[in-house]
Amino acid sequence: MSGPGQAEGFATPVQDWGEKTAARYDASTSDRASKEVLGPTVAFLAQLAGKGRALELAIGTGRVAIPLAASGVEVAGIDLSEAMVRRLRQKAGGEAVPVVVGDMTTTLVPGRFSLVYLVFNGLSNLTSQAEQVACFHNAARHLDAGGRFVIELFVPALRRLPPGQSAVPFDVSEDHLGFDTYDTVSQLCASHHYWREEDGTVGSSAGTFRYAWPAECDLMAALAGLSLESRFSGWEKEPFTAESESHVSVYAKP
Ligand SMILES: C[S@@+](CC[C@H](N)C(=O)[O-])C[C@H]1O[C@@H](n2cnc3c(N)ncnc32)[C@H](O)[C@@H]1O
Repeated sequence: MSGPGQAEGFATPVQDWGEKTAARYDASTSDRASKEVLGPTVAFLAQLAGKGRALELAIGTGRVAIPLAASGVEVAGIDLSEAMVRRLRQKAGGEAVPVVVGDMTTTLVPGRFSLVYLVFNGLSNLTSQAEQVACFHNAARHLDAGGRFVIELFVPALRRLPPGQSAVPFDVSEDHLGFDTYDTVSQLCASHHYWREEDGTVGSSAGTFRYAWPAECDLMAALAGLSLESRFSGWEKEPFTAESESHVSVYAKP
């Protein structure tokens, strides 16, 4: 059985999105906040939103939502973490983005949207298939007819996992050690990070995620009445291939 903050059958706790994580979130993801990344992301999402409204599931500190709103799209959000949302509200432009604090599998935001999106591997924060299915349903529930649900999600890196081994390093550098551990039975993985703090001490964090193949995402979308419209390997609409490490998938509501 799983306890609070624990995914069924896996030793590492689920990612904690409390004050400590929120305090270092923007600094630790600054590579994702560059204009090279956000420019194409915002252009992609703004085009799909058109003249309609956009809803970001797991909006966090507003990395994407604030520039999307600045581009002229009316954006709202849902997030479970008060600490993350507090940071969004403190930013310039953050006050223009209404956020409901709640679980993205069940929380309802008033009105309908032409676009719902869940980026930066957000789906994998839900550590059971039932929750991921519920998330697709909740996204579909918020969409206008003809609206789109966009997800950005990693492709499980199981081809890097040699038989008999459950851990794969992804960064071994002077200031940071990172490795992933997998449980291929429960379909859970954990990312472990160790970094050097300014005072020379070592900080660490770990969080459990549920990986899902693109095909499982398509099936979860179908269960929610959505169908795959297009799939790319990135926000610049690069082709999705067998070597792609991530996908941006667009699901349409009839
Ligand atoms: C990696 S951050 C992404 C934030 C933002 N979307 C971005 O791209 O920078 C993941 C976010 O998911 C939120 N989250 C995790 N589980 C959630 C859930 N069940 N419902 C709503 N938000 C959730 C966390 O609080 C956190 O803000």
